[in-house]
Amino acid sequence: MNSIYPAIEMKDIVIEFPGVLANDHVNLTLQEGEIHALLGENGAGKSTLMNSLAGLYKPVFGTILVRGELVNFNSPRDAIAKGIGMVHQHFMLVPTQTVTENILLGLDEPRYVMSLKKFDKKILDLQEKYGLYVEPTTKIWQLSVGEQQRVEILKTLYRGANILIMDEPTAVLSPREIGELMETMRSMTEEGKSIIFITHKLGEVVDIADRVTVLRKGVVTAEGESMKGVTKKDLAQRMVGREVVFTVERSSHELGEVVVELENVSAINNRGLPALKDVSLSVRSGEILGLAGVGGNGQSELAEVITGLRQCTGYIAIQGEEISNFPPIKAIKQGVSHIPEDRTAVGTAPRLSLTDNTIMKGYRDKPIGDGWRINFQVAEDHTSVLKDQFNILAPSIHTPAGKLSGGNLQKLILAREINSEPKFLVAMQPTRGLDVGAIEDIRALLLEQRKNGAAILLISEELDEVLSLSDRIAVISEGKIMGIVDSENVDIDQIGMMMAGMEQERE
Ligand SMILES: Nc1ncnc2c1ncn2[C@@H]1O[C@H](COP(=O)(O)OP(=O)(O)O)[C@@H](O)[C@H]1O
Ligand SMILES: [Mg+2]
Repeated sequence: MNSIYPAIEMKDIVIEFPGVLANDHVNLTLQEGEIHALLGENGAGKSTLMNSLAGLYKPVFGTILVRGELVNFNSPRDAIAKGIGMVHQHFMLVPTQTVTENILLGLDEPRYVMSLKKFDKKILDLQEKYGLYVEPTTKIWQLSVGEQQRVEILKTLYRGANILIMDEPTAVLSPREIGELMETMRSMTEEGKSIIFITHKLGEVVDIADRVTVLRKGVVTAEGESMKGVTKKDLAQRMVGREVVFTVERSSHELGEVVVELENVSAINNRGLPALKDVSLSVRSGEILGLAGVGGNGQSELAEVITGLRQCTGYIAIQGEEISNFPPIKAIKQGVSHIPEDRTAVGTAPRLSLTDNTIMKGYRDKPIGDGWRINFQVAEDHTSVLKDQFNILAPSIHTPAGKLSGGNLQKLILAREINSEPKFLVAMQPTRGLDVGAIEDIRALLLEQRKNGAAILLISEELDEVLSLSDRIAVISEGKIMGIVDSENVDIDQIGMMMAGMEQERE
């Protein structure tokens, strides 16, 4: 495997989509045996570049060399033949088949002469070598996301890949699984394999990469820089092209009247178990109440009862008007806006255009709806304005929402929800999975709403986010509010204790 040439040289790569120059004369060199991070915001062009290296897209310009040899891939098969394997962001496994079947799927060897035992042995060897444990006879649908990823990695290794491209592999993993994946990556490079590791998380680049290439809007802003002495801040700057403020400026101002009130609200979850227990809280105009807590402690159910998506006992009112156990339209009419946890399944209709998604909620009202029909011209003009105002990067207002990157999709949801001038905004994990630039934009938008007098319930597992944005912080554990503290002189240890289920000490 040792050659005087780099494993991969991509030179001057240009890839276009209608209305988007996804890769604008991009260079990337992967040395043998290194972990090379490919860093960039959502939509920067990382997946596109790597799809061309994996034989899925053809650049309109530029060259690719594999160990010094000029190649011209027409399909993933050609790339695999050169030892290049890609683990995609969205897995490509057959849910009803077993791990082994999926790993062998699509291989040339005819099934009838194949001894499953023998192949299992090769799989077991790979598992052993790289710590990629997953029971070979299990069906894919029975596996966790982390295990499914291991199957994808095994699949590429089985095909003899010695150059691995991993497209945002950590996005779907728990912190423990991320640690395990990093171990696997290290053992792969020790074996002489080379890895391109795509991410938009700065910390991960610092932790594991030997070198980094940064893309911004299709252009390289750091080309194969050594990671020695490079800080997160340096990386962030190259990624978004400006000094990133990691701490937000939260102006102090007078709070208004109480907008939202919850009294003794209880609810059960989908499995029939108690999810919320006697929750009482209120949020005032111009206030952000942050709800901190470990995920799965009743946060989703709380957002659902407020927005009318789940039944509850107790009392919920917006400006004195009860909304509990009414259909969601009642909450909308009362000025409740919702940034849901699941952007794709709940927040948007992926097949519909930007315009359709924007008017989804307001189509009944003037000027878009005029009693019996929708005025599409008004709807489109309105969407164009929002697209500019919220800096939503998309080819056009006719683009299906499903084609947007995570950050742009979230901006689209915010545009729709904020545009209705909500009295009360429920924001659930509003920045999860987004890159630094988009996180900054979204946080700024929330603070702007606060300034405009909206009451905001910010539900987030990111403690930093809760601490920096909130006026007051409520901590939830097992469906109960353990305490509510002022963010001015907050004691992190105390918050930690409450998150762990200990009630706030009374002074
Ligand atoms: N199949 C496609 N059709 C049209 N536009 C696309 C397609 N794939 C990606 N794009 C656009 O190309 C740009 C780069 O996307 P992508 O490579 O997925 O970015 P990243 O992986 O860095 O998030 C984005 O503006 C995206 O909307
Ligand atoms: Mg991508």
